[in-house]
Amino acid sequence: MKNNVLVTGGAGYIGTHTIVELISSGYNVVVIDNFSNSEKTALDGLEKIINQKVTFEVVDCCDYLALENIFKNYKFDSVMHFAGFKAVGESVANPLKYYSNNLQSMMNVLQLMLKYGVSNFVFSSSATVYGQPEVLPATELTPLQKATSPYGMTKQMGEDILKDSAAAHSELNMIALRYFNPIGAHPSALIGELPKGAPNNLVPYITQTAAGIRKELSIMGNDYNTPDGTGLRDYIDVVDLAKAHVVAITRMIEKKNKSNYEFFNVGTGIPVSVLELVQKFEKVNNLKLNYVIAPRRDGDVEKVWADTTLANTELGWKAEMTIEQTLENAWNWEKKIRGIK
Ligand code: UFG
Repeated sequence: MKNNVLVTGGAGYIGTHTIVELISSGYNVVVIDNFSNSEKTALDGLEKIINQKVTFEVVDCCDYLALENIFKNYKFDSVMHFAGFKAVGESVANPLKYYSNNLQSMMNVLQLMLKYGVSNFVFSSSATVYGQPEVLPATELTPLQKATSPYGMTKQMGEDILKDSAAAHSELNMIALRYFNPIGAHPSALIGELPKGAPNNLVPYITQTAAGIRKELSIMGNDYNTPDGTGLRDYIDVVDLAKAHVVAITRMIEKKNKSNYEFFNVGTGIPVSVLELVQKFEKVNNLKLNYVIAPRRDGDVEKVWADTTLANTELGWKAEMTIEQTLENAWNWEKKIRGIK
């Protein structure tokens, strides 16, 4: 089997979980990261789970020559490209940081894949490319809206770069996975999300509030046109998401892909409101969370969830975890890193 995979951004939240699944499916990985938004300790947790060392090098994917050394020193069949910045608000405040990092790193990887004859590429795209769809659930044919942040623009432009590169270079095979809202942690509580500073995303904010690090959660908006007035999202367990990557890469290696650029929604297909999520978190973990209702957050869409039919039928992938299991894992991880019994 062609099983050597370069994992960029492999010390991050989704990268670490995906490496676990790659290793358990028989792949060999070389991991690179520049730790700009991740910690070395994430690799320690990862190595405990897989019970082996990972081959790791500190490399910034924007540094073409450093990245080229990786392609020279190892032999790859595939690349999983997780490296990139992901904070929506920060991207509005510092757009050049996002455009230059997220696009340059991806183009460097693709250029080196062509130069060194590496074929298969999995890209971390996002549900953000849909904006606020007029019809829900969103299918892969749902028209894309102009992204509302530079971060979102880098995902849309990233997909365009893949589409154009696929048309020009038939030797490349590429799959973009449009992640909905990744949450949770590995059931071992050895790896999970490690946000720097105050979290922007809902679940880490909830777990940090439960741990007493944040005073209260603000539920941002309860006047949306939704059953309970709070925003609806499709929360996908990070381990389920990791497994989708393995399926995607295997599809390309086994040449089961129908064209050399494909894209898939990766979600559960189940809309969950902010309030429902908070209540489920309280119930499954048997605790009370301090929360207040606050104004809407700028740039938020009201509701978005996935139609996952294409991933289910074409990839043979389906989310397996219940949201309750996922919220239990998220809390176990927070407790573990805070030393809470
Ligand atoms: N929310 C709160 N309080 C918080 C944080 C979030 O009420 O403290 C609400 C939001 O308003 C939203 C929901 O929780 O309704 C989910 O918010 P997240 O920040 O967790 O996730 P988003 O849906 O805003 O963001 C996700 C991804 C981004 C992506 C974006 C746009 O994290 O990568 O979707 O689709 F760009």
